[in-house]
Amino acid sequence: MDKEPSAASDRQAYDDSPATQSESSSALGWLLLYSVAMFTLPFAAFYSTRYALTHYLHVDGFANTCGSVVAAVLAVNVIIFLYAVRGYEDAKDDDNNHDPTTEEGDERKDEAKKSKKRNMSASLLYLLVPVGVGASLYVIRKLRELQWGWVRNTAPLRGKVFIITGANTGLGYETARALAARQATVIMACRSMERAGEAIRRIRQHTSEGELIPIELDLASFASVRDFSEAIKSRYPSFDCLINNAGLAMQTPTFTKENYEVHYGVNHLGHFLLVDLLKDNIRANAARIVIVSSKMHERAKIDFDNLGKWVDRARGERTNSLYNNSKLMNFYHARELYKQGYNVHVLCPGLCHTDFFRSYNPKWYHYVLFSPIVLLFLRSARQGAQNIIYAATDNVNTEEKNPVTGYFVTNVKQTKSKMKFDEETSERLWRESVKALNA
Ligand SMILES: NC(=O)c1ccc[n+]([C@@H]2O[C@H](COP(=O)([O-])OP(=O)(O)OC[C@H]3O[C@@H](n4cnc5c(N)ncnc54)[C@H](OP(=O)(O)O)[C@@H]3O)[C@@H](O)[C@H]2O)c1
Repeated sequence: MDKEPSAASDRQAYDDSPATQSESSSALGWLLLYSVAMFTLPFAAFYSTRYALTHYLHVDGFANTCGSVVAAVLAVNVIIFLYAVRGYEDAKDDDNNHDPTTEEGDERKDEAKKSKKRNMSASLLYLLVPVGVGASLYVIRKLRELQWGWVRNTAPLRGKVFIITGANTGLGYETARALAARQATVIMACRSMERAGEAIRRIRQHTSEGELIPIELDLASFASVRDFSEAIKSRYPSFDCLINNAGLAMQTPTFTKENYEVHYGVNHLGHFLLVDLLKDNIRANAARIVIVSSKMHERAKIDFDNLGKWVDRARGERTNSLYNNSKLMNFYHARELYKQGYNVHVLCPGLCHTDFFRSYNPKWYHYVLFSPIVLLFLRSARQGAQNIIYAATDNVNTEEKNPVTGYFVTNVKQTKSKMKFDEETSERLWRESVKALNA
């Protein structure tokens, strides 16, 4: 007589099931998958992000940091994803291994089914959310870049001479590189000949076209500006374009050789003196003057009582008003020059990733807080330089659109400033600047 199947014999069959036997090999498989995913995917993410940033967005400075962040985010996502899939597999095992002889077994089967579904959708979400967020950010960034514009004109500039102040780094460097690539002669007016030489070496890795000539110029010293203009008058008297690009923003009181605070002294007065010393050459050659200002001029006000003096930031003041004011002075300088018949163009390059913020000391959380701003507003130096190249090489001024009517170049097109310029301030600043040169 056959023996009735007992609960004990069912339990034995369940314990000996192939699922239980394969548990250890499945653990080994998971370990292998974890290792491969954890070592290969983040590395691939790091290198592809760095490649995309340096080759397509031309952002060199913090490509490594961005690559590391993307790799870390991906690594965390891989862990969560694999963990969720593992949970799903466990639920499946649970489902297969339920004890079919009891009511409890049926309940466990239902529970396992539900858990399987939950884990499945969680795994999909873990994969889709980061991919979706990444893709949307990429599209937004690309749309912003389209808006920022690019100079498409590649006509050769052979025989043309451009002078660029502060050409060893940032926007000046990128402008020098682009103009040289179009066969121009570029005078790199830099305060350090060593940094100028290093910049030339870097440009020469990209192009062998054009001529790059370093000449020393420290805008924080009247004597240096005078020496520089003498060198230009004797070696390149018929230059075609002067680009007043050099500029800085400081956090602590800093002064020029003549004891003016640096924003006024370098960003405005140094360039004011330079144009004054070269004015005969500029007139004789109908040379163009390009003045690199900033949209921050719209937040500025010229404080004649403290002109050239360091004034500490008021409590709660978020931006550097001394810098903003110097950029408004750049605009007024352009207006007065235009009124005197010079061919002058003023521009804002937009917020750009350059060495400009070197005197700022951001905390780690600033990077996190400002990362959306960076994504939406921060251009590469090459992208910002397009505005300088456009203003220096294209016919951007018309009768109606010029610095006196409040127009300036930004996003590679003319835009009207929101600033209410007034003639009295414009003329007074000119008079005060002449006085400061002769003081
Ligand atoms: N970056 C932005 O977001 C932004 C936005 C709006 C406007 N801008 C304007 O763009 C211009 C270029 O800035 P950037 O972003 O390219 O900054 P950057 O990377 O710091 O370059 C500034 C250049 O100016 C030079 N410079 C500073 N002080 C000088 C002095 N006393 N004499 C001669 N050269 C001097 C620097 O030389 P060293 O390397 O020797 O210091 C450097 O070559 C500035 O006028 C700035 O106001 C920038």
